[in-house]
Amino acid sequence: MTKLLFLFTVIIGFYSCTAQTHLKDMEEFKEVGWEELNTNAIKLIGKDWMLITAGNIDDYNMMTASWGNIGWLWEKPITTIFVRPQRQTYIYTEREDYYTISFYSEDYRDVLLKMGSVSGRDFDKMNYDKLRPVITPNGSICFKEAEIIIECKKIYSTVIKENEFIDKDIIDDKYPQKDFHTMYIGEITGVWMRK
Ligand SMILES: Cc1cc2nc3c(=O)[nH]c(=O)nc-3n(C[C@H](O)[C@H](O)[C@H](O)COP(=O)(O)O)c2cc1C
Repeated sequence: MTKLLFLFTVIIGFYSCTAQTHLKDMEEFKEVGWEELNTNAIKLIGKDWMLITAGNIDDYNMMTASWGNIGWLWEKPITTIFVRPQRQTYIYTEREDYYTISFYSEDYRDVLLKMGSVSGRDFDKMNYDKLRPVITPNGSICFKEAEIIIECKKIYSTVIKENEFIDKDIIDDKYPQKDFHTMYIGEITGVWMRK
């Protein structure tokens, strides 16, 4: 009985310490308003790339993305992301209310290349030691290694429709398999920058 009690205490202690560690890690970041995002968003997303992450600390997935926007819509600061249906991340962006986009220094180019070339279906992304998860106060997941983290709450989503392309060349060029992205618009609910 005493042994059982001891084991129980150790397990509870382990889990609460893990949770505290993740929350404490957020202290390495300074929460700022969206007004303080003053980098070139086209370069930031299109050339530097980002990770899209959705899920909770027990079950999340992330992938590299370079298509998206940061902007203003319906009197709200927003981001837009585009996720193809075959991505493992798609299961999460569909299921969850929140997603994060996060940005990294050039030192993490290889990490972003990896997260953009392997799927969470074939690789244990949650135990990838180069991206250690931290939890936002809303329970969203981002990574200790990030320079900038933007958390968003989904407010609109739609599937890109073939018959609505004005420039039809994009269909053959970007969608030979007709795997049209789902576009999510998310209201920005938090912005953090590395201190
Ligand atoms: C630079 C780069 C940008 C990418 N941008 C996107 C994107 O915007 N949308 C998308 O659906 N996939 C994009 N991908 C592909 C996914 O990151 C890739 O298929 C990834 O392995 C998906 O992982 P998952 O199956 O675990 O979600 C990009 C890949 C790279 C390397």
